[in-house]
Amino acid sequence: MRHEPNASPLSQDALKTLVGRAALAHVVPGQVLGVGTGSTVNKFIEALASVRETIPGAVSSSEASTQRLLALGIPVLQAHAVEGLSVYIDGADEIDGQGFMVKGGGAALTREKIVAAMAQRFVCIADESKQVQTLGAFPLPVEVIPMAAAPLVRRFAQMGGQAALRLIGGQPLVTDNGQHILDVRGLAIDDPLAFEDRVSQWPGVVTVGVFAHQKAHVCLLGTATGVKTLTF
Ligand code: A5P
Repeated sequence: MRHEPNASPLSQDALKTLVGRAALAHVVPGQVLGVGTGSTVNKFIEALASVRETIPGAVSSSEASTQRLLALGIPVLQAHAVEGLSVYIDGADEIDGQGFMVKGGGAALTREKIVAAMAQRFVCIADESKQVQTLGAFPLPVEVIPMAAAPLVRRFAQMGGQAALRLIGGQPLVTDNGQHILDVRGLAIDDPLAFEDRVSQWPGVVTVGVFAHQKAHVCLLGTATGVKTLTF
């Protein structure tokens, strides 16, 4: 007897498209929204173009997203031009059962955290590969002041992490803010709030990629059977 699969598996790209479109339901007509960075958000930005007349514009978390928004005719506003945001929509590298996330795979974590902190609600869009029990399997991005990179590598080693400077073309990657990124392997982040508080205080750390204080309120998770909405 032949067994047919129940559903054709969707590619990761298709899942990103699915959640990018689903996020349109969280766009508040008449209000500026915050827009994150990454391949999943790129799908959201494409979908957002279809409703661009309904919003005054967006506050963007990176130069890359700004270029995409502008190319699709969506006005980009500076953070100082808005009082606050009702919603911020962004992806994640990892998300746990409480809505705590690791972010920064695209090196935009500092502006992402700033825009997320301006918003009342963080709507995370992710495919199901991003769901984890404990944060830390994905190398943790940390934006650092370049002269602090070596001392910070040693500090992470003291807590059991192996930190390495992110390179591009053999040179340290330079962020939108002119800083560098350390990627830290080997951490199990059991207490994301305490971890974020602790590492954020180390001299030379600009932003740690644990989003615990700016955690997700909702996650639209792309799964083989459709979009699952998780609320935290
Ligand atoms: C960008 O710096 C990141 O925080 C992204 O939000 C995160 O890496 C998710 O990116 P993808 O949607 O490309 O997986």
